[in-house]
Amino acid sequence: MTTRESSGQPEAARRQSDIAPAKGKLGVMIPGMGAVATTFVAGVEAIRQGLASPIGSLTQMGTVRLGKRTDGRSPKIKDFVPLAGLNDLVFTGWDIFEDNMYASACNAGVLERTLLDKIKPFMESIKPRAAVFDQNYVKRLDGPNVKKGKNKMELAEQLRQDIREFKRTNSLDRAIMIWCGSTEVFLERSAVHQSLKAFEAGLCSSDENIAPSMIYAYAALSEGVPFANGAPNLTVDFPAMAELSRKNNSPICGKDYKTGQTLMKTILAPGFKARLLGLNGWFSTNILGNRDGEVLDDPGSFKTKEESKLSVLDAILQPELYPELYGNICHKVRINYYPPRGDNKEGWDNIDIFGWLGYPMQIKVDFLCRDSILAAPIVLDVVLLMDLAQRTPELRGIGIQEWLSFYFKSPMTAPGLYPEHDLFIQLMKLKNTLRHLRGEELITHLGLEYYD
Ligand SMILES: NC(=O)c1ccc[n+]([C@@H]2O[C@H](COP(=O)([O-])OP(=O)(O)OC[C@H]3O[C@@H](n4cnc5c(N)ncnc54)[C@H](O)[C@@H]3O)[C@@H](O)[C@H]2O)c1
Repeated sequence: MTTRESSGQPEAARRQSDIAPAKGKLGVMIPGMGAVATTFVAGVEAIRQGLASPIGSLTQMGTVRLGKRTDGRSPKIKDFVPLAGLNDLVFTGWDIFEDNMYASACNAGVLERTLLDKIKPFMESIKPRAAVFDQNYVKRLDGPNVKKGKNKMELAEQLRQDIREFKRTNSLDRAIMIWCGSTEVFLERSAVHQSLKAFEAGLCSSDENIAPSMIYAYAALSEGVPFANGAPNLTVDFPAMAELSRKNNSPICGKDYKTGQTLMKTILAPGFKARLLGLNGWFSTNILGNRDGEVLDDPGSFKTKEESKLSVLDAILQPELYPELYGNICHKVRINYYPPRGDNKEGWDNIDIFGWLGYPMQIKVDFLCRDSILAAPIVLDVVLLMDLAQRTPELRGIGIQEWLSFYFKSPMTAPGLYPEHDLFIQLMKLKNTLRHLRGEELITHLGLEYYD
């Protein structure tokens, strides 16, 4: 028997991808210095100082099995592919508020003061640059630290200058931009998003379909800087950005960090489908009291989030293939702004399933989670893996990095492809991509060779 559990591609196709080494400093540029951004940056600094562990981070703690199960080869991912080290990360950000990262982290109330005080000088040293902001796109916010320009192209130019200045003054070799700003109002793709030419004309005429997050993304990609989107905004999910990304070898990915309730959904739903358990309904409700919750209290921003959260179940359960089991699901998602809870969200799920002969059953999930604690390791991984993508000839020019779907609620894909939402397929895809890049055999889990 020649079939191998760990086979999957002909020998000739196996080659070492020529990944450039991760030498020098990596700049991390963050539009939106709120709860997620400060929890991420404070966490990296605490880990660097030996005060904490990178729990939840696949790049720091995860392993990847290589070869056969009997080979005993399972290196850590960070030892298997050349990733930037945490000591090489340098941070900057933009926000409409003038608080430095220490003040912003205190305000967010995610991390304890005792930890923040140990890294206070470092956190205070990161001060927000003036933001590109327009209240029409985030109705519940307003702040003083905002750039002025005669049109959106001029604002993009100012951001490009910020990027150049940050790289120059910190002697950076490479940089990444990752959106941790508020969720913007729901926007659909329109003519201005269809090509780079139309988009640039739209920047000059300040087209209303161009949101601030798109201006940041345009500035980053124009400077050859990869852009990841942690919110559900349209931002880089349209043809003009894919074109710019490919043209400048600057990868893009998104959207919306997969944390909390949606993380649970993408863990549970694949299990129901695997066991052919039917689903009548899934009611999800949340209470949260942070600034994100306040922004999502606005119907425009909530709609953007709702679309992102609702898309998950259909894609996992495939009602077109299983009409009897999933053809008639009532799926509802609610987010309630409730200030006393701060960042410590509570997410309730009531799940109505049915089994053998159609007998109904119920599952209740009450997840007392900490949103930003779940999001911070995602930000770290996405930063490091996007940097890896840009140093990898095979990945840097393809635009969307679908292999990073693992981290997102609404993964971006090539036109015409449905997104893969199942967390376990996403993880396999990510690890197989890494194996592929290093010329290792892909793991198919066939495993008949053990019984030869
Ligand atoms: N926490 C999670 O688990 C999680 C999960 C998925 C997605 N997200 C998304 O990540 C984003 C950040 O979440 P958060 O909890 O840190 O929110 P937050 O409100 O604490 O922080 C967002 C920050 O962005 C700033 N901002 C808004 N528009 C800006 C602009 N145009 N330029 C610069 N700064 C701008 C705000 O002033 C605020 O300080 C939100 O869009 C949220 O929906 C969070």
